Amino acid sequence: MHGEDNGRDKETGGRVTRRSFLSQIGAAGVAVTAAPLAARAQINGTPAQASTGAAERIENAMPITLSVNGKTVRLEVDPRTTLLDGLRETLSLTGTKKGCDHGQCGACTVHVNGRRINSCLTLAIMHEGDAITTIEGLGEPGNLHPMQASFVEHDGYQCGYCTSGQIMSAVALLKEPCGPSDADVKELMSGNICRCGAYPNIVAAIQQVRQRA
Ligand code: FES
Ligand code: FES
Repeated sequence: MHGEDNGRDKETGGRVTRRSFLSQIGAAGVAVTAAPLAARAQINGTPAQASTGAAERIENAMPITLSVNGKTVRLEVDPRTTLLDGLRETLSLTGTKKGCDHGQCGACTVHVNGRRINSCLTLAIMHEGDAITTIEGLGEPGNLHPMQASFVEHDGYQCGYCTSGQIMSAVALLKEPCGPSDADVKELMSGNICRCGAYPNIVAAIQQVRQRA
């Protein structure tokens, strides 16, 4: 009988050392965090091509129905799936970005029933029946939302990674109580971080839309 077959450490005569324990935990941790959670999706009744793990059995899968950018979406997801991962990994709506995955950067901002939220901080299964809007549902080339057009006009981005979250927040801000000054806009946009420091242009873009409205 081999010692390693029982998960015991040969070098220490079967004793599990702190080092061997941590290396096992570390390997397991990587497997858990790196593997996408399995999910299936249908959009307006048609299977979504990018469903992850569609051929696999989904342990403890839960069905949910959402409206995403005006389309009815039926999902079967692992209950641990965040709304962000559901949108990106299951529905291939990759315009919504994952920055920190901890509610600190705003890159994952979407609208739920008209209000902005960080989609990395909420589980998909909590949104049964909700109306979700992502950057893909705001406008499209040739028919941009005024906020998207204003960001383009004012160069409100550099690398662009934060931009969809900035724009989703900025559009939501239009319906929120906000004073007229640049400082007021900065305060309400403070949950959206831009590592490139495009803040002056972002504020200018938002102020132009507010003034035109
Ligand atoms: Fe959600 Fe950073 S990815 S707040
Ligand atoms: Fe690069 Fe904002 S444009 S992070």
